Amino acid sequence: MLNWDDPLATFNHTNNNEQRTSSDKKNALDAKAILNNKMESDQLELNATNNLLDTEVIKKRKLESPIIQEANLEPVRVDDKRVINGQTDINQLAPFKYPWAWEFFLNANKNHWTPLDINMSKDVHDYQHRITMEEKHVYENVLSYLTTSDILAMRNIGLAVMEKMTAPELQIYQARQVYEEALHTWTYQHCIESIGLDQSEIYNRYRVVPAINQKIQLANQKIHSVLRADIDLTNKDELENFVMSYTFFAGIFEGCWFYNGFSPIFALQRRGLMTGTAEQLQYIMRDEVLHCAFGIRTVNQIIIENNVKLDPKAIQLMWEEAEAAEIDYAHYILQDPILGYNADDHIEQFRFIANRRAKQLKHTEPFPGAQNRLIWLDEQANMRKEKNFFETRVTEYQTGGSLKWD
Ligand SMILES: [Fe+2]
Ligand SMILES: [Fe+2]
Repeated sequence: MLNWDDPLATFNHTNNNEQRTSSDKKNALDAKAILNNKMESDQLELNATNNLLDTEVIKKRKLESPIIQEANLEPVRVDDKRVINGQTDINQLAPFKYPWAWEFFLNANKNHWTPLDINMSKDVHDYQHRITMEEKHVYENVLSYLTTSDILAMRNIGLAVMEKMTAPELQIYQARQVYEEALHTWTYQHCIESIGLDQSEIYNRYRVVPAINQKIQLANQKIHSVLRADIDLTNKDELENFVMSYTFFAGIFEGCWFYNGFSPIFALQRRGLMTGTAEQLQYIMRDEVLHCAFGIRTVNQIIIENNVKLDPKAIQLMWEEAEAAEIDYAHYILQDPILGYNADDHIEQFRFIANRRAKQLKHTEPFPGAQNRLIWLDEQANMRKEKNFFETRVTEYQTGGSLKWD
């Protein structure tokens, strides 16, 4: 039987009770009966006194309590809601000021899955017998980078961003996003565990490989600058810094580094290798596309509502820093190219996706003329075109094929 105070508790307490003698049990029952009678009589007296006291206390509280007096305040006016720095009651969901945020939440719930849905047995065989040393290097380092990044993504949205929102429809989607980032971390762990990789080695790569560490450090700087209890978003500089940080996470960290970060594994998948892992990443990618689009839309809305003017030079510098980190990363993970994929492909695709995100963010194109090297990448994001995908699932959920990915 489950213990509802602590469902994972062991049954040690029950075992101890069973060892008590029958005499112990009888003595305990007698003592309990006497105690119960005494307690019942005391309780009757106490109730009578409390009834009198309660009436007086309630009367007094009605006169003094600001909470009860506030019951006469005006209803929330939907036009008064703001993404940040709003003054309306955040506990009221509808009417929606931002119906698009609610639509994101509904759409996110259509991509329902867990890593256990996907069979990883072929990947175990592929890793041991079919892929080359160079491909193993790519596979391990991509997983290593992604798993550290997803923890950061979870902490950013859950700790640094969500608490600053003042409209509940935005917070509700972000709460779902926090869960999805945790789910992604579980997914990488499931892959690492299934393949039998050395966990302490894989999880520590970002600590010892400069090219991975550099990307994590850039994200750490951004999150630490806004993860402060004393931050004041009514201050112009603080607000601009917050907008830049959220822009970085939505547009670059999720919109480019993640979006493009799955590509080396998809390149293996296209050759029939590590297909279970790739399938897991396709699910993650669908979530990330929504995270990126939601974040960009939220940033754009904050900019409009607060008349934020970002420094174009600072924006260009942010894109260039991201590019420099991605170049080092690509040269490390693809120091030897694998069949059908090399470092130049990865870097050029980063620039091409960056231009697309910049357009969504209303920035000037940071990398004019960048070419779409991986024309198959967008297809990977749209699993409706992967005709065998749903046939491979162990568990059937409600839906998944009715999402729009623009
Ligand atoms: Fe994620
Ligand atoms: Fe994400």
